[in-house]
Amino acid sequence: TVPNKFTLPFRRPPVLQPVRSDAQTDYYEITMRKAQVEILPGKLSEIWSYNGITPGPTIIQRVGRQSVVRFINNTLGRPTSTHLHGMASLPQYDGYAEDLIFPGYYKDYYYPNNRAATIWYHDHAIHHTARNVYMGLAGMYIVQDQTELDLPLPKGEYDVPLIIQDKQFATNGKLIFDDQGEKSQFGDVIVVNGIPWPRMEVARRKYRFRALNGSISRSYQLSLSTGDPLIVIGTDAGLKPAPVAVQSFRFGMAERYEFVIDFSKYPIGTQIVLKNTSPKNNEDYSGRTNAIMRFDVVRDATDDSSIPSQLRTFTPLLASQAVRTREFRYERTNGLWVTNGKVWDANRVDAAPQFGDIEIWRLYNNSGGWFHPIHLHLIDCQILDRNGKAPFPYEVGWKDVFYVGENESVRVIGKFGPNTGKYMQHCHNTVHEDHDMMNQFEVLQNSL
Ligand code: C2O
Ligand code: CU
Repeated sequence: TVPNKFTLPFRRPPVLQPVRSDAQTDYYEITMRKAQVEILPGKLSEIWSYNGITPGPTIIQRVGRQSVVRFINNTLGRPTSTHLHGMASLPQYDGYAEDLIFPGYYKDYYYPNNRAATIWYHDHAIHHTARNVYMGLAGMYIVQDQTELDLPLPKGEYDVPLIIQDKQFATNGKLIFDDQGEKSQFGDVIVVNGIPWPRMEVARRKYRFRALNGSISRSYQLSLSTGDPLIVIGTDAGLKPAPVAVQSFRFGMAERYEFVIDFSKYPIGTQIVLKNTSPKNNEDYSGRTNAIMRFDVVRDATDDSSIPSQLRTFTPLLASQAVRTREFRYERTNGLWVTNGKVWDANRVDAAPQFGDIEIWRLYNNSGGWFHPIHLHLIDCQILDRNGKAPFPYEVGWKDVFYVGENESVRVIGKFGPNTGKYMQHCHNTVHEDHDMMNQFEVLQNSL
């Protein structure tokens, strides 16, 4: 069942208020439970929710304050493990896939909020991540700092989360999860913040959008129907060094890109579609997935925002600073998704950098017909090159997901810290992750 495009009003997930706060810490509570919600007009769909909704409520935090989020596993009837993707959490709070919370239990997760970025929380239960996230267990988490807040970028109601996902529904409204034999889950309905192809009324001014690809297997190529560029200002791990105007960008699962659209040049009445032009590697259904949402310019507004030409101090890591290079080959062999020929094994560690080491990781994909957005937990990295060429201008900056397309070899560089311990690395096509394209590294304490 497919609703009409651009008829349902845009909405943003509610912001979660702490249940209490003290001098350093804000305490939050999120209950994971089944809920019946209206996604398609006039039908009810069962979701697996954070606080009864999907996406879950947005947490907005400040660098310098700590969060403690109590995730309560209530009526889901299945174990969960919550990962805050993009946070340098201690290993015991990182949502390790085998560190499960069982029904009837809760866990308090401590988050240090040590840098500003648009990140997200989602389920990470071993072998069940794809289904759990698909059924609704995902939400946004925004960390801000004073330096960023002092920039003249659009703020408040003009700073807008866009959680983009694809879903598939039966005629009765039931969500269909079908991973095509452990390969991929594609939907024919694009939802933004849980709303199918919404229409957002905008004023004639600049808006900042924080886009998260929260899909299971679908990547997008985003562009505007006007042909005007998107001004990309942020990547996974925060603001870019400088804004860059692009006609479109490739947007893999779990990546975040922030961009500004200036609607002031369009007369009232203009309709602008945020398009998806990425059929490659993405199953399409009669062109339905070629649009994400529509912006309808409806009113005038004053605008004191601007886009600074420098957004953030940024020091590129140099290949010459790396103490070693490691290789990770992501492929499909004998019907399994593997890294360097191996499936996930919690007893195996595939890389053990010393705390503080700078390393180059070469991620490569020679499995024909597939792409793998690779996510490293704990650290932010920079892309050195892709197939020997400079990264796309929109990718320049700090990231934690690296799009490794078919026959692509991507070299990333990062510094291991600020924590020691075991952390996962995996494909963020969560169907691949579940079966079993995941491995782990262990950051070792320096033996000084
Ligand atoms: Cu977004 Cu290991 O996860
Ligand atoms: Cu993959």
